[in-house]
Amino acid sequence: MARLPADGAGAVCPGPTASSAVEILDAKTREKLCFLDKVEPQATIAEIKTLFTKTHPQWYPARQSLRLDPKGKSLKDEDVLQKLPVGTTATLFFRDLGAQISWVTVFLTEYAGPLFIYLLFYFRVPFIYGHKYDFTSSRHTVVHLACLCHSFHYVKRLLETLFVHRFSHGTMPLRNIFKNCTYYWGFAAWMAYYINHPLYTPPTYGSQQVKLALTIFVICQLGNFSIHMALRDLRPAGSKTRKIPYPTKNPFTWLFLLVSCPNYTYEVGSWIGFAIMTQCVPVALFSLVGFTQMTIWAKGKHRSYLREFRDYPPLRMPIIPFLL
Ligand SMILES: NC(=O)c1ccc[n+]([C@@H]2O[C@H](COP(=O)([O-])OP(=O)(O)OC[C@H]3O[C@@H](n4cnc5c(N)ncnc54)[C@H](OP(=O)(O)O)[C@@H]3O)[C@@H](O)[C@H]2O)c1
Repeated sequence: MARLPADGAGAVCPGPTASSAVEILDAKTREKLCFLDKVEPQATIAEIKTLFTKTHPQWYPARQSLRLDPKGKSLKDEDVLQKLPVGTTATLFFRDLGAQISWVTVFLTEYAGPLFIYLLFYFRVPFIYGHKYDFTSSRHTVVHLACLCHSFHYVKRLLETLFVHRFSHGTMPLRNIFKNCTYYWGFAAWMAYYINHPLYTPPTYGSQQVKLALTIFVICQLGNFSIHMALRDLRPAGSKTRKIPYPTKNPFTWLFLLVSCPNYTYEVGSWIGFAIMTQCVPVALFSLVGFTQMTIWAKGKHRSYLREFRDYPPLRMPIIPFLL
């Protein structure tokens, strides 16, 4: 049964019968938001979030971050109360993560945008390049090839989002979608504007340069896909298991011998290939920004692997073999 807190502060939340108590304080103001009496010691953080939602329905579980320290890391949903370093009354600090949106929706929006935007420039729809160019087509083969590669890349990502990735987090803060879409959509428009421009000039070394670039692009796309499949196979459907990824029989996965996030290595490689193919400054900049972002993430993931697995292969670097 739930009981009123001694000082009467905060709402009293209905808890299950058993022995521990949990108080939830606002991480910023330290105001008592909720007191859960007699919580099962085996209760998970996910269950505590559900109980908290009963008195604060505006904070549905995906919006909640519960921590042991107001400025510390969020506890995982699967963490169990009795395994946490707390006394008989556990104090948890709550932070509102803001409105949430599902990862799948996020990815679909982020990736469908560039696909569609690029095609507007490729088909030279009115009001982009001037009336006389409306719905005209470039005379350069590389422009058509670039459109094929760009579209292939985003169709692949959409399909992977729907059918390959097994995400551990169901949602992401809604505000991130504005930031991410500005990045993906903005760069797609900028790159497409120049590549499909009627005055675009093909790369300096002609078809040799294009063939080399296409080879890099195709290899990296196959590599990226192979790594995504290998990561998928690490996690049984419906679980959140994280394991050390190892090379499989597929040679594209052998990069796991040297880096923790070869999917990022291949992703950067694809964009370098695309930059060489189109010889276009916005593409080079997109590759550089993407590389910077993915390096930051790869370093974070690499650190977590080292923290989580004592037997983590020592030769691996985050993203670039032997270097970075
Ligand atoms: N161009 C760009 O700027 C850019 C930037 C970022 C990403 N991308 C592309 O988008 C792709 C996906 O990005 P991402 O950041 O989501 O990649 P990621 O973190 O490597 O994750 C890919 C998938 O594998 C799962 N996973 C990762 N490590 C795992 C492990 N040790 N055990 C089990 N499952 C694991 C992830 O689940 P979790 O949900 O648990 O993480 C996720 O479902 C990248 O590979 C890249 O091609 C492009």
